[in-house]
Amino acid sequence: MLQTDELTVRFGGHVAVNAVSCAFAPGTLTAIVGPNGAGKTTYFNLISGQLRASAGTVTLNGRDLSGLSASQRTRAGLGRAFQLTNLFPRLSVLENVRLAVQATREGPHRRGFNLWSIWSDHGMLTDRANEILEAVALAAKKHELVANLPHGDQRKLEVALLMALQPHVFMFDEPTAGMNAAEVPVILDLIRKLKEDRSKTILLVEHKMDVVRELADRIIVLHNGTLVADGEPAEVIASPIVQEAYLGVSAQDASAQDGTPPHPGLPPRGGRGEQP
Ligand SMILES: Nc1ncnc2c1ncn2[C@@H]1O[C@H](COP(=O)(O)OP(=O)(O)OP(=O)(O)O)[C@@H](O)[C@H]1O
Ligand SMILES: [Mg+2]
Repeated sequence: MLQTDELTVRFGGHVAVNAVSCAFAPGTLTAIVGPNGAGKTTYFNLISGQLRASAGTVTLNGRDLSGLSASQRTRAGLGRAFQLTNLFPRLSVLENVRLAVQATREGPHRRGFNLWSIWSDHGMLTDRANEILEAVALAAKKHELVANLPHGDQRKLEVALLMALQPHVFMFDEPTAGMNAAEVPVILDLIRKLKEDRSKTILLVEHKMDVVRELADRIIVLHNGTLVADGEPAEVIASPIVQEAYLGVSAQDASAQDGTPPHPGLPPRGGRGEQP
């Protein structure tokens, strides 16, 4: 069980995440929704350790992770998509995934210098890396340099690296943002498959309400850094607080983009790095 208790962060006078207490059980997918700037990414950053909380705690299976760095939390089982800046751009896609797989296994160095075991480990690591690349539909590009990948493939690679880590908790922050229509189903299928493993806890920040409706077991809503709704998808989407929270933003967003009237209950269309 992943749990946040009164998790809070302040940037100067601004409280970006405000005393959020929530528990996420294994075998569930929780969608985190809310307007642009609501604090969703910041909440993820506090959980994964990219940001230190001003107050409150993060625990995983009863262990307090609050004092740990981001890499220590990764080792504890929290899986946050890699930033591609952490990769080796001059190495191939396959080599990068293989390094991620290797990082999670006991490597040959632990067993001393034994050529046979290095060779057989190398084969196993490559097999596992190939399997993951198949799953994210990147196998055809495995020999390309990471630096040369188009945006959609980079996002798939982020998911591949996350899978290589085999975390207990998967955190996806708008995993399909910036992808073209053909690429989106690959990532959604992967998340669907991950859901079948009942030992995994999945957190998904997503603006596309049809995706949320289909994948989520539960929706929580953040608004101005505060948790304002939490429950079954249908119930949360229909709740007055969600209708109200989204209506104004949707109206603006819809008229700015295509002139269609706002649809109550739908969050603003948005993507990574877009601010209202
Ligand atoms: N490092 C930072 N320093 C100062 N303010 C920050 C920082 N990170 C986030 N914020 C502010 O905290 C608030 C929440 O931002 P956050 O990125 O978490 O929103 P979000 O819900 O992920 O939005 P979006 O849907 O646009 O991705 C915003 O007002 C943002 O400007
Ligand atoms: Mg965000």
